[in-house]
Amino acid sequence: MIQYSSHPMPHDFDVLIIGGFGHVGLPLGIVLADAGFTVALQDINQKIRPMIEAGQMPFMEHDAEPLLKKVIGKNLRCSTDIADIARAKTIVITIGTPVDEYLSPKTRPLFALADAMLPHLRDDHCLILRSTVYPGTTLALKRYLQQRGKQPHIANCPERIVQGFAIRELRELPQVIAGFSPEATACARGLFGKLGVETIEVEVEEAELTKLFLNAWRYMQFAAANQFYMIAAERGLDYDRVYRAMTHNYKRAKDLPRPGFAAGPCLFKDTMQLAAANRNQFLLGHAAMMVNEGLPAFLVTLLKQRGTMFAGTTVGVLGMAFKADIDDPREALSYKLVKLLRFEGAEVLCSDEYIRDPTFVSKEDLIKRAEVIVVGVPHSTYRSLVLPEGKVVVDLWNTFRS
Ligand SMILES: NC(=O)c1ccc[n+]([C@@H]2O[C@H](COP(=O)([O-])OP(=O)(O)OC[C@H]3O[C@@H](n4cnc5c(N)ncnc54)[C@H](O)[C@@H]3O)[C@@H](O)[C@H]2O)c1
Repeated sequence: MIQYSSHPMPHDFDVLIIGGFGHVGLPLGIVLADAGFTVALQDINQKIRPMIEAGQMPFMEHDAEPLLKKVIGKNLRCSTDIADIARAKTIVITIGTPVDEYLSPKTRPLFALADAMLPHLRDDHCLILRSTVYPGTTLALKRYLQQRGKQPHIANCPERIVQGFAIRELRELPQVIAGFSPEATACARGLFGKLGVETIEVEVEEAELTKLFLNAWRYMQFAAANQFYMIAAERGLDYDRVYRAMTHNYKRAKDLPRPGFAAGPCLFKDTMQLAAANRNQFLLGHAAMMVNEGLPAFLVTLLKQRGTMFAGTTVGVLGMAFKADIDDPREALSYKLVKLLRFEGAEVLCSDEYIRDPTFVSKEDLIKRAEVIVVGVPHSTYRSLVLPEGKVVVDLWNTFRS
């Protein structure tokens, strides 16, 4: 529980972040505290609180730990109780917004949170929804609170950082801000403006769509790259050669990503949220999902066609995180690949530089023992690895050649 001054104050802290121990909430809290705000982090996952209070990051986030050590216990504090929102001026919500088994957004957690906040919420609060949400969610939240007698100033300010680099990007990226009232917009402007970045003001639903379109666009770009790779590979061609021919000194193809597993906690589910919001009429989004989610099975089939007999073969999946140089396994397609390989009868070894899993082996051990090596994610440290002759290698990112 936060210790409060015995003297009455207008508020004990400027900002309280709900979901404050997560990948979005924690870096945001650190950066806001470093910018001079008094910040409280509130989260239902109290297991990691001692770690954060000791100045240790619970996950990889470049440049975060020195800053955390600098601000924790000073103007950044951990809260154990949702009642602490009563002591804050601004409340920022950064809880997860997953999709359910029908690929529709799970809305209950946000409204359950609204119920928990209700007794402590005031009309002079500024409530900023930062999580990525289904279009119309911010309005639905406003209506829900209003029907229960609360009318805080509400804004939507979607988070756009790339995971792992939030500390840098929060101080660089323009912030999209959208309030239902001039007070809400001014509050969001005041908060994010202090980070020294541009602010872009739009309507609330425009802000929700901005974020969903960006993630769906990225997901579709990866799908285009993966589809091109599959077409070339099925024809027995080396896609790297085609990719180089397409992109070398040719500026219109500069933004074509490399093929590779595209999933993680955001791109897939946000593309599906957008589809759900559009009566499931999002042909490009669904096509992207089928291509990206189909890549692990495609690789298994390709290996079979090229002569790999999986039963009795040791296959190594090198890199398990959902993207390079972070420790996050959430929704990583490397796990889907491992499952398919085991189903085919292969003995599968997994390795990752950053994910701690006692079943994983070292990269050196994997390279020595596996007859087939599939790069699951191209962590930078893999670039210096030398593979022995005679291994079958699937390396969509060209990790070992560049
Ligand atoms: N991870 C990213 O890079 C990223 C980038 C942009 C946007 N987003 C979006 O931000 C949101 C959060 O994503 P994340 O990756 O930080 O998720 P996360 O799971 O890392 O963090 C969410 C946190 O919220 C906490 N939480 C859940 N329900 C709560 C409740 N009722 N009260 C208090 N705390 C609660 C969880 O314990 C967790 O610590 C999602 O909507 C996501 O799509 C994520």
